[in-house]
Amino acid sequence: MRETTALCTKPVIELDFMELDRIIDDEYSRDKENLIMILQAIQNTYNYLPKPTLAYLSEKTGVPLSQIYGVATFYKTFSLEPRGKNIIYVCLGTACHVRGGGKIMDRLKEILRIDTGETTEDMRFTLEGVRCIGCCSLGPVIKINEDIHSRISGDMVENILSKYA
Ligand code: FES
Repeated sequence: MRETTALCTKPVIELDFMELDRIIDDEYSRDKENLIMILQAIQNTYNYLPKPTLAYLSEKTGVPLSQIYGVATFYKTFSLEPRGKNIIYVCLGTACHVRGGGKIMDRLKEILRIDTGETTEDMRFTLEGVRCIGCCSLGPVIKINEDIHSRISGDMVENILSKYA
């Protein structure tokens, strides 16, 4: 049997310690009480939580790494895996589902060639399904980053995606 060498396809992240220090020290005063907000700020910087940043955070705040992982894995909003530049949240809640939310998800999967929870190879998009975005009367709804797109149809999906480089 021939052995093959697996190629690492994950991007190599260069940590910006100045930015981490700014977040941990200046913005949140190394305060353990601000752990969730610090994690959110780190995720906003990298689009996910690179593992070395969690170790650095643990070192600086004195919060055990296991506890930081516990928080990072408890909240669905955090990701320990690299995510795309743009995160697409497709609402699959009841109100959106009856108006075709599932078809929108299928269309997105078809165009992006990924499944729910996956990221496109070019790191442009990550696709997520969510239960409710909070604007049920406007369904079907998708949210891309902070933008809400309401009353959409499968035909509109490609055009919407084209607005996100
Ligand atoms: S069910 Fe889709 S926004 Fe509430």
